[in-house]
Amino acid sequence: MTQAAITFGTPLSRQATKVMLLGSGELGKEVLIALQRLGVETIAVDRYDNAPGHQVAHHARTITMSDAAQLKALIEAERPMLVVPEIEAIATGMLEELEAAGVVRVIPTARAARLTMDREGIRVLAAETLGLPTSPYKFCNSQAELQAAIDGANGGPGIGYPCIVKPVMSSSGKGQSKLSGPLDVKTAWDFAMAGGRVSHGRVIVEGFIDFDYEITLLTVRAAGSSGQIETHFCDPIGHIQVNGDYVESWQPHPMRPAALQRAQHIAKTVTDNLGGQGLFGVELFVKGDDVWFSEVSPRPHDTGMVTMATQWQNEFELHARAILGLPVNTALKSPGASAVIYGGVDAHGIVFDGVNDALRVPQTDIRLFGKPESFKKRRMGVALAFDADVEVARVNAKEAASRVKPRVA
Ligand SMILES: Nc1ncnc2c1ncn2[C@@H]1O[C@H](COP(=O)(O)OP(=O)(O)O)[C@@H](O)[C@H]1O
Ligand SMILES: [Mg+2]
Repeated sequence: MTQAAITFGTPLSRQATKVMLLGSGELGKEVLIALQRLGVETIAVDRYDNAPGHQVAHHARTITMSDAAQLKALIEAERPMLVVPEIEAIATGMLEELEAAGVVRVIPTARAARLTMDREGIRVLAAETLGLPTSPYKFCNSQAELQAAIDGANGGPGIGYPCIVKPVMSSSGKGQSKLSGPLDVKTAWDFAMAGGRVSHGRVIVEGFIDFDYEITLLTVRAAGSSGQIETHFCDPIGHIQVNGDYVESWQPHPMRPAALQRAQHIAKTVTDNLGGQGLFGVELFVKGDDVWFSEVSPRPHDTGMVTMATQWQNEFELHARAILGLPVNTALKSPGASAVIYGGVDAHGIVFDGVNDALRVPQTDIRLFGKPESFKKRRMGVALAFDADVEVARVNAKEAASRVKPRVA
């Protein structure tokens, strides 16, 4: 399907080209900035006031995005041309209704937002419908079911140990644990129940993949010169996750040609199916020439913040351009790295010491997201570095991040 070219209007006039972001965290904030630069009128929506994206948009709205009635009322009142989900916990059924009724276009599609809002829809699509390689997995509704899934039942094979248990609805590693033996099952179940976003008591248990490395393959579906959708790949992004949460990333991550080809094939297969226009973060595990699909975000990815230092068009600009039907360029500008700056304290309105010292590290930059409330493990900023040698960039990004000292005011 091709989309007619978009006419760009003047913000805050009747001719405005309006885009609504559902979720306005640090990733949404950068998408909003990219849209602002193209003269788009922006509406930033989040569940709490003064979210990072609220601070840079024309309009800031606070609603419960998982509440279908609130979401419908807001979209009908604002009438944006595009609705761009930035988070998973949205009333995606309502988005599908509004898209089907022609009220709004959802990025990349309302169906993609629904399928990726929990681990089940996307895993079943990737593994069972598309036949892509994934870890072995089962979904379970109780601790007893979990135990049976691991052990195997009726003579069938179980997932075995080690394995990973995750709430079906969760992100950033929340409620996720690795199990090495039967003694870990109860703890993992209880932890998943406490950490899931919506406590509907369902988990996925996955066989542990002993990968050599994992990557995010940023994949862009954008209109070509005659309007047909073309798929573009960024260079692979390597990253390190601690307890399921990203702490550093770098680009490019070197890959053997056969593994890269498989990775791109998997990414194209899953994004072709999800459809629409925009950037996707395809998460893959790699061992030798073997590649497993893990999950996909139909939007910019946290590990992709590195592209603010490494690409001519960073992942947020690529997303903005792709959704508006503009051409994209995924070329690398320089190798580089990112390192997360955590809050370190639980407090509102914290201050950051050492920003000047951080920026004395050569070829670095930082982003402070402006989140009104800090938690010890909340991502409050990111350090970026570029260098011809990606390993130097990694060291410098971590050094810069470590020099930023958040504290209670
Ligand atoms: N089956 C698995 N085998 C090995 N490591 C895994 C597996 N599943 C998850 N992980 C590790 O945990 C991280 C977070 O898991 P993921 O499914 O991406 O959750 P989230 O949605 O919270 O990002 C992955 O990036 C990877 O490092
Ligand atoms: Mg992930």
